Amino acid sequence: MDSFIAVFDSGVGGISVLREMVRLMPYEDFLYFGDSKNAPYGTKDTQVVRKLTVAHTQDFLKRGAKAVAIACNTATSAAVRVLRQMYPEVPLVGIEPALKPAVEKFPTGRILVLATPMTVREEKFHKLLDRWQGDADVIPLAAPGLMEFVERGELDSPKLMVFLSELLAAYRVGGSHQVDAVVLGCTHYPFVSEAIGSILGDEVEIFDGSFGTAKELKRRLDEAGLSAPTDKKGQVIFENSLPTEERLALCEKLLKA
Ligand code: DGL
Repeated sequence: MDSFIAVFDSGVGGISVLREMVRLMPYEDFLYFGDSKNAPYGTKDTQVVRKLTVAHTQDFLKRGAKAVAIACNTATSAAVRVLRQMYPEVPLVGIEPALKPAVEKFPTGRILVLATPMTVREEKFHKLLDRWQGDADVIPLAAPGLMEFVERGELDSPKLMVFLSELLAAYRVGGSHQVDAVVLGCTHYPFVSEAIGSILGDEVEIFDGSFGTAKELKRRLDEAGLSAPTDKKGQVIFENSLPTEERLALCEKLLKA
């Protein structure tokens, strides 16, 4: 691959964004890199995640990436500003919790934002709240431990259901803080969205920012004149800092999920 898009996450979660990108731009070549060796990012120090994200991005660019997508809310909140300063000429997209569409749909509703501890702690999230919250009651909820289920490929195990029941008890239909919507503010969570929906109840709408991020990447590539010709099919290559056979097989499975 000589002109590819690098897509990056702390592990396998960013594949929820990658699959939207592949659907939207099947003619592009993608290199997906998961840093499972250093996962989880969400419970680490911001400086540590910033350093890792910058180092991985430098490596992608050295290898010839034409664009970089940080398919991780946590790494985006830790490093996207620094990276934009370092590489103003590179199309670089990040992801943030899809609060805007949720508030537009439920302007006076109660909205749960599920994310990692770092994402809900960082300034970027607080700015997002200031911008879009309006009259909605937005409840940020850190979910340490949830991404690990996805890393293990456990998308509907009994243990996962117990974990989610305990985490979400107050917010389910009939609970003390029943919500109208939940925003999946971590790219691992779309892979367990059915499990989350089954705990919260069918009436609760689920929002995630994957498609919006894919559209933004396409817009940036088109604008920069960097989109690939649309008459050939692109390829997807998976790399991981802990590249076991099992994990690479999980990557392939999640891309088709
Ligand atoms: N997938 C990452 C995100 O979107 C976080 C998972 C982690 O804690 O490493 O925030």
